[in-house]
Amino acid sequence: MSEGDEGWVRVAGRGDLAAGEVIGVEAGGRSIAIYDCDGELFATDNICTHAYACLSDGWLDGTMIECPLHAARFDVRTGQVLDPPATEDLKTYPIRQVDAAILIKLD
Ligand code: FES
Repeated sequence: MSEGDEGWVRVAGRGDLAAGEVIGVEAGGRSIAIYDCDGELFATDNICTHAYACLSDGWLDGTMIECPLHAARFDVRTGQVLDPPATEDLKTYPIRQVDAAILIKLD
């Protein structure tokens, strides 16, 4: 690991996440959703801020994820709530691809 790599952890292989898809991964004791939006990667907490549902079981439409339980929607780029019943934004994480691996940065 070189300088600047601190805090980055491998969470998936690049081949595990297809274009336009979302998957749930575990890192640092947290459940995190990673998204491929037209080849661009994003990461947020996987648990909806409204109640208890995994966003990785929801529907990704462009850069918007819809919760499978009560249909709150969030912007996966910023974590911002777009539609109720959720009122609290999602936490987001820096994400990058290194060779065939997907890494996120935990704090
Ligand atoms: S748990 Fe996600 S909208 Fe209710």
